[in-house]
Amino acid sequence: MANLLIKNIKGLAGILEDNTGPLRGEALGKLEVIENAFLAIEDGKISMYGKMEDLSGVTDWTNLEIIDADGKYVLPAFCDSHTHLVFAKTREEEFVDRIKGLSYEEIGKKGGGILNSARKLADMPEEQLVEDALKRLVLVKSQGTGAIEIKSGYGLSVEAELKMLRVIKKLKELSDVTIKATFLGAHAFPTEYKGGREDEYVDLIINEMLPKVAAEGLADYIDAFCERNYFTTEQLDRILAAGLKAGLKPKIHVNQFSIMGGVQVGVKYNAVSVDHLEELNDDDVKALNGTSTIATALPMCSFFLSIPYTPIRQLIDNNVAVNLASDFNPGTTPSGNMQFVTALGCIKMKMTPEEAINSTTINAAYAMELGNELGSITVGKKANVVITKEIPSLNFIPYAFGEDVVEQTILFK
Ligand code: NIG
Ligand code: FE
Repeated sequence: MANLLIKNIKGLAGILEDNTGPLRGEALGKLEVIENAFLAIEDGKISMYGKMEDLSGVTDWTNLEIIDADGKYVLPAFCDSHTHLVFAKTREEEFVDRIKGLSYEEIGKKGGGILNSARKLADMPEEQLVEDALKRLVLVKSQGTGAIEIKSGYGLSVEAELKMLRVIKKLKELSDVTIKATFLGAHAFPTEYKGGREDEYVDLIINEMLPKVAAEGLADYIDAFCERNYFTTEQLDRILAAGLKAGLKPKIHVNQFSIMGGVQVGVKYNAVSVDHLEELNDDDVKALNGTSTIATALPMCSFFLSIPYTPIRQLIDNNVAVNLASDFNPGTTPSGNMQFVTALGCIKMKMTPEEAINSTTINAAYAMELGNELGSITVGKKANVVITKEIPSLNFIPYAFGEDVVEQTILFK
């Protein structure tokens, strides 16, 4: 399907004539829509768009597929800039523990949580991990996702971290979803390093894991979970410095449960994004103001754990670039449904539907350094788009939470 004409589109949304960076402040609330539109795609790229009345007759019908999108909207496919999509097993048992009163942190302290996932992953062959992750990719694609970032971090040993990253590399080959890989060796301390040997594990990440990850070209980014009982700001600082030296830019977990200064370390190293930010103070916002670092909120994690939502309005009002992502993982967000992410952005974080859509498309593309290739309807960009079912308005996407409004996700490799 190299050449494609989508015609009679009820509304073609997410048009940007040219884009020079993530949308900030008031610009985030502007979503350009053409009603009764067409979208022409050549060799997988957007070649033209406009009003149906301006569509001149097609001269070359060879290799041209035509889709009639009467009553339907077309928008850029979602970009999900933060996931842990490769994992061995789901963790419903911890879900029930939390219903009964235990917190995520308490479960982690008992050896559950990330270590639970690491134990399960250690025994699982690479092929099985690929097969399971592919199924999840097929699911999220059907829900509208066209690009995704995937982290390691359930390995926590040299061997198993490399195994995870090789799985992600394989997924890049096998899937038409655009994938970025992040090395998250610093996700949790293995039990044998807890209680005094934590810095030795950081040494292992820096001296053993990173060189191998870099030599095999297995990752695009470096991540660490900066949090009480996990990695300190000093450890984060060391890991990011080493990652940058190895050519990996930071995209990091900070301020999920506590404010430790991780935001400032991220800014110091020009992080592509600082993610979570459920806990955020004025100093953090000030640190982000005027920088290129994007603040990534993960509202499904807040929903699932019943923790605060990232104060995204404060960030938007302070001209910080923001985006929304899923955090798909077996512990805190067992879903990669970006439609629900837009719903929570609106319902719980008081974003307008336009802001929520821009935050899951163009700004999310920038949070994966794909802003020049994806995330908007722009001539020359890859034509990765979603065609909705027949829906009354664009606002219906976040409004009708729980309903799948995506009819088709069209992706080009
Ligand atoms: O982003 N908080 C750190 N990492 C994941 C959860 C990982 C897990 O519980 O398996 C998160 O929420
Ligand atoms: Fe995460």
